[in-house]
Amino acid sequence: MNQATLHQLKVFEAAARHGSFTRAAEELFLTQPTVSMQIKQLTKSVGLPLFEQVGKRLYLTEAGRELFATCRQIFETIAQFEMKVADLKGLKQGQLRLAVITTAKYFIPRLLGRFCQLYPGIDISLQVTNHEGILDRMSGNMDDLYIMSQVPDHLDVNFQPFLANPLVVLAPINHPLVKEKNISIQRLADEPFIMREPGSGTRRAIQKLFDENGVAVKVKLELGSNEAIKQAIAGGLGISVLSRHTLIPEMGDLAILDVEHFPIKRNWYMVYPNGKQLSIVARTYCDYLLEAAKEFVDNNAGLYAEAQS
Ligand code: PGA
Repeated sequence: MNQATLHQLKVFEAAARHGSFTRAAEELFLTQPTVSMQIKQLTKSVGLPLFEQVGKRLYLTEAGRELFATCRQIFETIAQFEMKVADLKGLKQGQLRLAVITTAKYFIPRLLGRFCQLYPGIDISLQVTNHEGILDRMSGNMDDLYIMSQVPDHLDVNFQPFLANPLVVLAPINHPLVKEKNISIQRLADEPFIMREPGSGTRRAIQKLFDENGVAVKVKLELGSNEAIKQAIAGGLGISVLSRHTLIPEMGDLAILDVEHFPIKRNWYMVYPNGKQLSIVARTYCDYLLEAAKEFVDNNAGLYAEAQS
């Protein structure tokens, strides 16, 4: 490996991540032949093939997989070093990789604006995915911080709650149940229900409550997006349960139903795997988020009370 360069490893890492030389070339602003050449030289240094082509698809060989894992560690260590140096220089700069569950996208991106103004040297990548997607990313150690509503119990993680994330029952504004108070949860079984996709944490929380109360809802439609569900409710396709935060700033054509056992009380947590060295940038972001969440609660005092009324 004496001949291998950091540049070659970077090219290899991108190609392995994308499973494509072309996409690696696009990402790194290189030509495809340059990528091929760099990988060819790296393969020579390693002395074993790194990729194999089966049909049109590119796969990592065993040596390739080992090298990919090694690259991840190398780049992580270099990034940590760069951030430490930046910190010694009194600068906050580097990269922040965040992965958040779908409901948090109603809150987190808005806050990033102010964070970026405070720390213009920090570049951010934000991935939005469902609960299952976050777990996958966490297992692959792909991000610095994760924001989710349910702390995984099968992974060893650090977590800190920072804001309530209640789930409420939503119906179109002209629905007959809107005027009723303290609706029995059993009544929901009479309504067509719109459900999030399997793998969604929201779905899991709803299902748990329904199971505990012996409620079997009629799922009329399954949708993988909170926004699509809101549109479907407004369009009269059924009722659903979503995070109260999906309705900020406006309720639109929707109303919150006053159903027993609701809202389902949940929190958002900042989570990262135990043993992970949080970068200075990530720690700065954690502190910022805790402050911003406090401010949010102060400015929206009525919100959670209203979610229950
Ligand atoms: P989801 O995440 O997108 O997986 O439903 C929301 C949550 O778990 O609260």
